[in-house]
Amino acid sequence: QKIDTLSKIRDTGVVAVLRGDSKEETSKAAVACIKGGLNAIELTFTAPHADEIIEELNRDYPNGQALIGAGTVLDASTARIAILAGAKFVVSPSFSKAVAKLCNLYSIPYIPGCMTPSDIQTALSYGSDIIKLFPAAIVGPEMISELRGPFPNVNLMATGGVTLANLKDWFDNGTTIVGVGGSLTAPAKDGDFAQVAKNAKAYRDEFNQ
Ligand code: 3PG
Repeated sequence: QKIDTLSKIRDTGVVAVLRGDSKEETSKAAVACIKGGLNAIELTFTAPHADEIIEELNRDYPNGQALIGAGTVLDASTARIAILAGAKFVVSPSFSKAVAKLCNLYSIPYIPGCMTPSDIQTALSYGSDIIKLFPAAIVGPEMISELRGPFPNVNLMATGGVTLANLKDWFDNGTTIVGVGGSLTAPAKDGDFAQVAKNAKAYRDEFNQ
């Protein structure tokens, strides 16, 4: 299953990062992203009742119609809650050995946030299959190509400040996938979920080009 998850994440290219202020906003924004064609969802644990949303999305999009993961997972307890709720992958803003070990125990991909070569080396040595470069826009797309010199086989997920306008730059510099939050889901704050779906479709189209 882990191999299947990794190949699905790679194929989808753009992971939608959902960080709503309420359960309803987050859940509706996630559905809008899936409708717009972004079916890999990172449901962050700053969203209220994130575990319930993960369960509900898995129920409503069965048989691989969507790939639901958990984000902002800072400790092993949260990772366990996320995995038991059905999260297929786990993301952190930072690297946590405890989360890495827990995810390895359940054979769930762990995508930790890293900013330096030392962070990356540690995360790789704990078995992370994908490394999230975070906050990516602070360093820019060239950081990806620079890192792929000494780490030629590393799979990177640029996250933090990725937009429709710079999406191509990240992939041109060798990112494997990207994570996109605010520039995709901002209209959800005003209840405009149709616009979130349109944004998702725009990302899908840009990635497919
Ligand atoms: C987040 O922290 O919510 C993610 O890193 C997404 O960042 P973004 O909103 O800048 O895309």
